[in-house]
Amino acid sequence: MGDPEISSNGKNSRSIMNISYFSNASAMSQKAAAIVLEDLDKNPELLLCAATGSSPKMLYQLLAEEGQKPSSFFQKTRVIPLDEWIGLTTSKGSCHAYIQEQLVVPLQISKDRYFGFNAEAADLDKECERIQKSLQQEGPIDLCILGLGKNGHLGFNEPATELKLHCHVATLAPQSQEHAMIGSAPTKPTKGLTLGIQDILDAKKILLLVSGDGKAEVTKQLLSGSITNDCPATWLWRHSHVECLIEHDIVNTAT
Ligand code: GLP
Repeated sequence: MGDPEISSNGKNSRSIMNISYFSNASAMSQKAAAIVLEDLDKNPELLLCAATGSSPKMLYQLLAEEGQKPSSFFQKTRVIPLDEWIGLTTSKGSCHAYIQEQLVVPLQISKDRYFGFNAEAADLDKECERIQKSLQQEGPIDLCILGLGKNGHLGFNEPATELKLHCHVATLAPQSQEHAMIGSAPTKPTKGLTLGIQDILDAKKILLLVSGDGKAEVTKQLLSGSITNDCPATWLWRHSHVECLIEHDIVNTAT
């Protein structure tokens, strides 16, 4: 893409992150759903960026339940996925299939309100440009739902010397190649498509869900407030409106 890149610059000076702790994933997801629904109430045309994985799954189930009600919140909601695996031979395990199943179908998001990646495009750099253009036209993202990767990644913005600002083809870290979503894939993806770190930071509001096993150390690193490219999620300390919801167990093991 030839984008400029972000370099790590050490300690954060503006620590604005609203951190809340929950006894379990259910309580965390209920709070997350309340945040999403409150924002949708204020802005029915909300552009929602959706992560995949296990962290937001229960949140999406709660939204799907809300979507079944007669006067649904979601008639004008727009959805853009955060990322996508490259090289899956079937749709099983893809972020597209996940978001279709969890959000698009139950919330009846029409085609013109969904801005998904095509990981099978012949020219993936052009595909990134296409998504970036959609983001320019539709964006900025109003509410960006994120999960915390075990290695601190956001989307497929993996730990690196320099982080890419915008939509790009990413080389997946070994840990990401072991993600449960692609556990049964015959060929494990080594690359992915993802929005960039600046695209995420340009969102008006960010909802970070910290949930799941194997995240004690990375959660500790995030909570330290020190910004480093070794843990891309720490860049969220530069955002002015992050709601960070954390499962209690993770904190107990991290401190
Ligand atoms: C993968 C997904 C991301 C997700 C992250 C964390 O990289 N493509 O969208 O946010 O993993 O997943 P989990 O919540 O399962 O830990």
